[in-house]
Amino acid sequence: MPSVVVHPVTRVRGRIPIPGDKSISHRYALLAALAGGRSTLTGYAPGADCASTLRCLQALGVRVEGPGAPERGTDRRIVTIDGRGIGGLKSPPAPLDAGNSGTTLRLLSGALAGHPFTSVITGDGSLRRRPMRRIIEPLTRMGARVTGEQDRPPLAIAGAQLEGIHFTPAVPSAQVKSAVLVAGLHANGDTTVRETAATRDHTERALPVFGVELRRAAGSITLRGGQRLQAAELAVPGDLSSAAFWATAAAALPGSDITLDDVGLNPSRTGILTWLERAGAGIDLLRVTEDAGERRGSIRVRHGGNAGLAVGPADVPGLIDELPVLAALATHGGELHVTGAGELRHKESDRIAALADGLRGLGGYVAEMEDGFHVVGRRRMQGGEADAAGDHRLAMAFAIAALGARQPSRIRNAEVVDVSYPGFFDVLESICIRA
Ligand code: S3P
Repeated sequence: MPSVVVHPVTRVRGRIPIPGDKSISHRYALLAALAGGRSTLTGYAPGADCASTLRCLQALGVRVEGPGAPERGTDRRIVTIDGRGIGGLKSPPAPLDAGNSGTTLRLLSGALAGHPFTSVITGDGSLRRRPMRRIIEPLTRMGARVTGEQDRPPLAIAGAQLEGIHFTPAVPSAQVKSAVLVAGLHANGDTTVRETAATRDHTERALPVFGVELRRAAGSITLRGGQRLQAAELAVPGDLSSAAFWATAAAALPGSDITLDDVGLNPSRTGILTWLERAGAGIDLLRVTEDAGERRGSIRVRHGGNAGLAVGPADVPGLIDELPVLAALATHGGELHVTGAGELRHKESDRIAALADGLRGLGGYVAEMEDGFHVVGRRRMQGGEADAAGDHRLAMAFAIAALGARQPSRIRNAEVVDVSYPGFFDVLESICIRA
């Protein structure tokens, strides 16, 4: 699937089961590996990123079974993990390969820092360009030796007996927060992470489920090192960041009506729903429940207008992965101004430059700033070609933008959707109405 042609549609309709949440799957797998006993994870995310986490854990001596075929009558895959307990990972025989996954590399580094061996962790070309100073600094302060040329992967991590620290990440980042908390599990004394802006809190919600006591105060999390983790049986909700593509398509196209089933509704992730509502979409949450500290439910989305939006620095952490698809919404007759989002330049691609390039290739009008972008969608796009630039979220955002163009569009290197959403283009085909 080197490139995919996306045809214009009039509207989208249907009911879609959403694959398991990527952020939650990484965390459950890693914490299960650090726990005593066998954990069962149902609905483990199907993409390449979460497979990378399992492969790294296996290389560290963890027994992993699955994910096999989906559970009967569902699309939920099961993974079982036999944990090795805190400090129980084995020295890997070769460099660990995190593939395209920043979450794998950063969270696992937190655990490796607390083990008495030296390991190397690396990834694909995109991951090897991403900044790691943000984890090198706190893990070094805790007592590990972490080095990488220009602070980029491959990272060599010489683990040690760690000491707890108080740490405030310079850039709001759930990955950095989680890396330090995971390292803190292996440290003497207390580790505190203070956040200047709230980021996704799946790690803080998952730790107690594995039996870890922690204290959450306004803007900070503290845990004591040396606690034992116990295995757990967990069901991963659907990934709202994946559901966001369908929600946005429905918000963009008049006459659309889409229901997204069993999706994670953690308040630190639902920013996209608020912004779609501000644009004019009708959004209803159905059958909302809470399980293992995570809210989940189904989401019905209907078109209702496409008002202009202005996203500022304080909004960015709650919307960081959805900014590309919100840009796609703007191409359907709306407008979007984003500032304070310089972090986008350090994702799977330089998401500001590659987003602007791709949308322009489809006939969109995009201005690029150092820390953001501006999309004006008043004129219908002509259609054309966009390159995914090795970035799964851009491939999917371009597809949603292309639905509203006059002519068919080609998304080059579209196979990268497999990083988080294998089968994305089949689902797209199943909801499109062209009459
Ligand atoms: C993630 C956190 C975010 C997000 C990434 C997944 C996580 O990154 O962009 O896709 O699972 O913790 P940062 O924490 O670096 O902002």
